[in-house]
Amino acid sequence: MTLLPFTADLVLTGGTVVTSKSRLRADVAIKDGLIVLVGDASAMPAAVEVVDVSGKFILPGAIDVHVHFREPGYTHKEDWQTGSAAAAMGGTTTVFEMPNTHPPTRSVTELRQKQQAAEKSHVDYGIYGLLAEDNIGELQGLIDGGVNAFKCFMGNTFGNLPSPSTGAMLEGFEIIAPSGLRISLHAETASIMAWRQKRLMEAGRNDPLAHIAARPAIVAAEAVSRAAELAEWTGARVHVLHISSAAELRPLADAKARGVEITGETCPCYLLLDSRDYARLGSVIRVNPPVREHSDSLAIWKALQSGVVDMIATDHAPHTPTEKNKAVIWEADCGFPGVETQMPLLLNEVASGRITLEHYVKISAENPARAFGLWPAKGRIEAGAHADIAVVDMERTETIRAANLQSRGKVTPFDGVHVTGVPIHTLVRGRFVQRDRQLVADTSGWGRQVTDIQRMPPANVRNADQTLAAVLQSPVPLPQGAAT
Ligand code: NCD
Ligand code: ZN
Repeated sequence: MTLLPFTADLVLTGGTVVTSKSRLRADVAIKDGLIVLVGDASAMPAAVEVVDVSGKFILPGAIDVHVHFREPGYTHKEDWQTGSAAAAMGGTTTVFEMPNTHPPTRSVTELRQKQQAAEKSHVDYGIYGLLAEDNIGELQGLIDGGVNAFKCFMGNTFGNLPSPSTGAMLEGFEIIAPSGLRISLHAETASIMAWRQKRLMEAGRNDPLAHIAARPAIVAAEAVSRAAELAEWTGARVHVLHISSAAELRPLADAKARGVEITGETCPCYLLLDSRDYARLGSVIRVNPPVREHSDSLAIWKALQSGVVDMIATDHAPHTPTEKNKAVIWEADCGFPGVETQMPLLLNEVASGRITLEHYVKISAENPARAFGLWPAKGRIEAGAHADIAVVDMERTETIRAANLQSRGKVTPFDGVHVTGVPIHTLVRGRFVQRDRQLVADTSGWGRQVTDIQRMPPANVRNADQTLAAVLQSPVPLPQGAAT
């Protein structure tokens, strides 16, 4: 201990700090919610509390840009307390929450309702505003009112929000582009899916695999291509949610190569499950987009390694057992909880040698922080950053049990899976929200919206003279030959 002119609130001692590039035996000193020093034990200040994490790894907490916490409106499935408790247990320190609640987050009025519900959160959060067919007039208000990103459901899913036409999407992109805020896309084309599902239902197909047949990968590939064109035209930043197929990787990679501001995420189910699991899991596996073929998983793993897919998120989408367990596949609600199991499931892949811990830090924390404007405040273990930390025990084994999840939605396709590698502590801005695999109950309300730290660099707006707003403002030209 040295004689530094301050006392830290907490020092984590004996652990190994992991960055996206390397690992380093170092202690971490925390004060007022920030990391103040990373270094040798001999360099640490005096501290109010010293916690021994010998043999453990110190990671930036996961940043999950895709969760559905259901409040307001569907609190029988989840609410902000239970959803954020699940995040805390799972080593996730920031979530971005989706607008398909009831009411949906479609204008400032509903944004305020969402912000009020979110006050219970154990972890920090961003809030998505909706970009739909019928709220184009509300987008500027949502930007000014403090949303952190937008969500556009190109395909229908839970909540049945009207998918915007390409015309509405273009106007939405034009309005959002100058703000620099990212537009996250549920990239599945509604009209193809509606057509095919109707035809399959008429033919009497009610089995789980009919869900894949209704949404072949072309729905994703077509939607990604179309959205990338609109993003390129307007300069809007976009993000492809829940990448499920090999087919959509090509338009994603092509768009990146052209300089389109586009990022992509995948979720554990698309990496770890495939069509062979439908017989075993039945309607529980139903999610949009569907879990596909083994060859799709392999291609997504490769794209995650190469950087075509930027990050891991969860699409945490809890439903009740009655809503999930249905004999007719079309009647089962889509999705399942994930924010609590992402880190153990991926650390298990680290333990088996499939990815490195450094790469895991990149896809779970650094890349989401960069893409959504939270870098350098979040997503790294360095002096000056928020003390958002997951302390990980790579030797600890656990069995995932649906019944033990913090989430209210106790149905997961990962029930019974054995994992090696578990977050044993989670800290949000220096405070333990999970300690020794126990939720710290009185931290409900500790979470804050990230609006104060979010810095989206200015976007490269294109074709501004051709936006609907510009065209409608300019004087109507006189017909040729008319007298002046
Ligand atoms: C999500 C839900 O339940 O809100 N369901 C899903 O299958 N993914 C909606 C979504 O993200 O598409
Ligand atoms: Zn979605």
